[in-house]
Amino acid sequence: MTTSSAPGKVYLFGEHAVVYGEPAVPCAVGRRARVTAERRDDGRVRVEASDLSLDGFAITYGGDLDEADVNVPSGLVEAATGYVDGAVDQARDAAGEPDAGFTVTIESDIPLGAGLGSSAAVVVAGIDAATRELGVELPPEELADRAYQVEHEVQEGQASRADTFCSAMGGAVRVEGDDCRRIPDAPELPFVIGYDGGAGNTGELVANVRGLREQYTFAADTVEAIGDIVRTGEHALENDDVEEVGRLMNFNHGLLSALGVSSRSLDTMVWAARDAGAMGAKLTGAGGGGCIVALDTSEGARTALDYTPGCEEAFRAELDTDGVRAE
Ligand code: PMV
Repeated sequence: MTTSSAPGKVYLFGEHAVVYGEPAVPCAVGRRARVTAERRDDGRVRVEASDLSLDGFAITYGGDLDEADVNVPSGLVEAATGYVDGAVDQARDAAGEPDAGFTVTIESDIPLGAGLGSSAAVVVAGIDAATRELGVELPPEELADRAYQVEHEVQEGQASRADTFCSAMGGAVRVEGDDCRRIPDAPELPFVIGYDGGAGNTGELVANVRGLREQYTFAADTVEAIGDIVRTGEHALENDDVEEVGRLMNFNHGLLSALGVSSRSLDTMVWAARDAGAMGAKLTGAGGGGCIVALDTSEGARTALDYTPGCEEAFRAELDTDGVRAE
């Protein structure tokens, strides 16, 4: 039996624009998914997830969901099993054991589908745990690449390398198309995260931005301007200028809002954090609902978010320099 964990992430800058080849800077945060893989002799896959939803679920299947024995709604099961299936297939492929079966147990303290990279963390940790269970160790770069293939397939092509690379490597990373690298010596970033309890539909949000970009030159310019913010932000990070990083996050949120991917609850949380003295605040991930990320060294933003209607959970999260790891 082997267990691996991998971190979730926030986007400091660049979501959505990264889909069109602009750079983005995601940062791993100290909330993790832990996946345990135990080999089984019957070639089947059993998935147990205690806290992926409020009810939790357990399911055993032989690759065909129709013959599955399930105790929760099918949408959630299909989503979770798509990622787990993909991770298991990658592990079988990497180890050259196409018939290996597993019992996979998932525990995660990353809110689901909320812009914090929960699926990427599960896939990265899942591939690592299952390959090690088969006696093979993959370098984090290869884990990132294999996890990206899984996300790409499950999300029908609507995935950048940002989430999976960040989760595998940890720390602050820079992603531009297929070029992914770690940003060395990123400063301490005092993240505060606000979560509205909801989730946006990533596919739909990406499609809407794509439509706007095709229809209006100024929308295409907005996407390019986000790329400019990212490039400026990288210099701010190099110079340890956290206040400038905050200002640029505010700017980035404004442009994401212009592209229609914010929401009332995300805007309300962003303003609550700013009013309480945060250096900057923006939505993180696809938007539409989910999480915001603010920078604040004091307790002000977190406390304000605790009292903000529509904010279900507010928590502090440090930049996590550890990517995927054996537990
Ligand atoms: O909500 P998340 O964490 O899945 O992030 C989506 C980020 C997008 O840029 C909108 C899409 C992508 O795959 O990069």
